[in-house]
Amino acid sequence: MNDLAARERIRNDLEATLVVEAAAGTGKTTELVARIVSLVRSGTGLDRILSVTFTDKAAGEMKLRLRAELEKARAGAVAAEHDRFTLALSRLEVAQIGTIHSLCADLLRERPVEARVDPLFEVAAGETSDRLFDQAFDAWFQQTVADPPEGVRRLLRRKSRFRDAPGQREVLRDAGRSLADHRDFAATWRRDPFERGDAVARLVDKLAELAALSAKAERAQDWCAKSVAEIARWHGELLRREALRGRDEDGLEAELSALCKHKLWGWKGSGKFFAPGLERANVLLLRDAVKLELERFTERAEADLAACLHHELRPLIESYEALKTRAGCLDFLDLLLRARDLIRDDGEVREELQARFSRLLVDEFQDTDPLQAEILLLLAADDPAERDWTRAHPVPGKLFVVGDPKQSI
Ligand SMILES: Nc1ncnc2c1ncn2[C@@H]1O[C@H](COP(=O)(O)OP(=O)(O)OP(=O)(O)O)[C@@H](O)[C@H]1O
Ligand SMILES: [Mg+2]
Repeated sequence: MNDLAARERIRNDLEATLVVEAAAGTGKTTELVARIVSLVRSGTGLDRILSVTFTDKAAGEMKLRLRAELEKARAGAVAAEHDRFTLALSRLEVAQIGTIHSLCADLLRERPVEARVDPLFEVAAGETSDRLFDQAFDAWFQQTVADPPEGVRRLLRRKSRFRDAPGQREVLRDAGRSLADHRDFAATWRRDPFERGDAVARLVDKLAELAALSAKAERAQDWCAKSVAEIARWHGELLRREALRGRDEDGLEAELSALCKHKLWGWKGSGKFFAPGLERANVLLLRDAVKLELERFTERAEADLAACLHHELRPLIESYEALKTRAGCLDFLDLLLRARDLIRDDGEVREELQARFSRLLVDEFQDTDPLQAEILLLLAADDPAERDWTRAHPVPGKLFVVGDPKQSI
């Protein structure tokens, strides 16, 4: 095989830090397991090896493959090497071969005092954490709709585009959930000055200008004329409504955002003239300019709304945290955050773990997020005093990483 030299290096060059990038099914996990076998053969105890992958399923497979390979290796080994494989096989079940989350849970259970977690904590996996979050959301939503703050008020005015699309309550729930999953980024979001009233007024004027052309159209059935007629109809309705009730900015913001997504902006039509003395191309130019303004407005309104909602959803995240604490649960993000804090902030713990694990092997590295990379790099660092993972240097040979960016989820 062309890459035989690389494969041999993975198995034999145990003093080098290696990063392996290779395509699907080329044997990355196979070679990672082979490297562990080489490590055991050369005298590294399985208890000094940390091997992580992305899912429970992959971790289970890795263990199975490792068992098979260790048995195969033992069959061909003699004397001390044979004993090393026997010992490794007897310890396989307690070896640190699993997901990064299972590793973090183990570390926290071992050091609950230093990590400041409930020693009897339970891991709230997907369903449990969803349930706790829903509980927090229901309470928050009920309280909030009674007197909605600006962002919620604006969002609730928006309509779903499609009949079976989720309602705005679901949109809020999903936003809250995704915020909870990224709660370690606690900074407030930038909210640029946005004079919504002025922006809306300018835009309505532009739309009125376009709508006024409708009456001049020569051929009502032409698609260009139809698009302008659609805008004229919308504008006429707006005028009638506003004559009765005045301007409703929240409602208009929602409507403009819906109008922006309307199909009419793509209707082109044919023929040279739109009206006597007015070329269709010029109408399309004007229409495109209005569309651009509309897009800009929508973008700014949505950025403004997002920053506003980000702030308003804060109490929801807090109540989710409180519910988890009361239930004695840590969710997946907690596991990573608490373990990272423990390793980063407790020098004694960090040093002990760095000494305990002499080898770190990471499969499916493409799915490792920065928080997980931080944990792994701190464990691999050569200087126990270093707390900043971006400055940490791994001990030569300690780290072995395989992955395939193309398979990243
Ligand atoms: N050197 C090799 N020669 C022949 N077959 C191999 C070799 N290495 C691995 N294989 C086989 O190829 C298949 C895929 O291997 P493996 O699971 O290690 O690939 P992978 O790169 O980890 O895949 P994925 O990208 O899905 O994680 C397995 O059936 C394995 O036994
Ligand atoms: Mg693999």
